[in-house]
Amino acid sequence: MNIQTVATKLLLKLPQPILNKLMRSVPKNNKNIKNNEKPWHLKGNWAPVEKELEVQNLEVIGDIPKEISGKYIRNGMNPVSGYSDHWFFGNGMLHSVEIENGKASYKNKYVRTPYFENDMGMMEGSFDLKASPANTHVIRHADKILTLEEAHFPWIVNDDLETVGSHDFEGKLNGPMTAHPRICPETNELLFFGYQMMKKPYLTYHRVSADGELIQSEEIDIPRPVMMHDWNITRNYVIFMDLPLVFDLDQAVSGSDPFGFRPECGARLGVMPRDGSNKDIKWIDINPCFVFHPMNAYEEDNKIILHVCRQNKAMVGGMDEIYGGKDTTGKLWKWTIDLDAETCKEEQIDDAACDFARVDDRLTGLKAKNGYAMAIDENAKTLTFGQFLYKFNLEKNTRTDHDLGDNVFGGEPVFVPKSKDSSEEEGWVMAIVFDDNIKKSKLIIVDVENFDKKPVCEVILPQRVPFGAHGSWLSN
Ligand SMILES: [Fe+2]
Repeated sequence: MNIQTVATKLLLKLPQPILNKLMRSVPKNNKNIKNNEKPWHLKGNWAPVEKELEVQNLEVIGDIPKEISGKYIRNGMNPVSGYSDHWFFGNGMLHSVEIENGKASYKNKYVRTPYFENDMGMMEGSFDLKASPANTHVIRHADKILTLEEAHFPWIVNDDLETVGSHDFEGKLNGPMTAHPRICPETNELLFFGYQMMKKPYLTYHRVSADGELIQSEEIDIPRPVMMHDWNITRNYVIFMDLPLVFDLDQAVSGSDPFGFRPECGARLGVMPRDGSNKDIKWIDINPCFVFHPMNAYEEDNKIILHVCRQNKAMVGGMDEIYGGKDTTGKLWKWTIDLDAETCKEEQIDDAACDFARVDDRLTGLKAKNGYAMAIDENAKTLTFGQFLYKFNLEKNTRTDHDLGDNVFGGEPVFVPKSKDSSEEEGWVMAIVFDDNIKKSKLIIVDVENFDKKPVCEVILPQRVPFGAHGSWLSN
């Protein structure tokens, strides 16, 4: 009996009235929705694009540095029917900008999973680990390009973005995989967790060897199902964030928002040796808050230092309120865990609203001086990407702003090193931004040493790229 069957059987043990309510809450795609009734995630540059294109020799303003060789792939939600009930549930579409010898080409493709092929909605895809929207992130590990979402298996695509198949690590993965795994730059291990809400274990930890073999899985005890979007690693530890964005099945069944911010449940960081298990975790209390994305974490003596985009609250207006308002938008905070005292010092570093934080991937889990994030408009009612990219000096607690210009809206900043061995001070930040003045999307390349100056170049993309989620630079 496979896990899907088990899940279905467990579901079917629910009292029939509850099951009926649950099934009635399955969203049906509505392709005929009028423009003025569209939810925010289907309007403007959130609206999906229809075409899958492949275009060579793109228009470039400025010169692409000759040292850049590889491709930037970004994932994002692009509902194939034109409609999805929530931003989280659109079909994954990959946008790739390939750069070589100062020239750029573009390609975009859907990730073709059962969720795509059968045009599923949120609940329809809930009980099949293969039925992933595959819409949140894309990484490369052990020569595989993995497209990720947080409630299902990853899906593999090839270099041409064609879907190869789902990936369960030769049958060893028996639950979902986060969209935010981490690759250790020193060991090349892939570390990740999976969380699930309908049944235990609510949290599971996994470790994959450099050559792609799943070598460790550990069930982790947490008292209740919570949304755990991201996490942290250091050289010797992983750090889970058990934060009070709590999943409530009763609420889901009643058709209400299934996630509630419940500060009374408390908030904890769980520090575990990378080869440890549940019994080895030190749980350290912090003030109730929510974090979608940390920036990075590292060890220093008996301390672990984390930089995170911390929100005071999360989704207080329901699932639609992903961000929106000062309390539910991230600001850069520094958390210092004292492993001996089992305490955490919490300090706000900066007051700029931001998220989608990154460092040089080669410093994941190690001490990075520079961190990057995208501005979020904290005064907007719904998730609104801001007009700035930010560079933070994490040693001096200072910030340098890259102004994208009026009516230009950001995307996640991804660091591209000048060469394999160059320092984090030498390289560029790439982001796909939307220029509403010309109604076009652009890949901008910003020199990190001159971060407040104009980009060294802008690659004009041949079609609008909807605001999306995360991506990776894959060097050649
Ligand atoms: Fe994310």
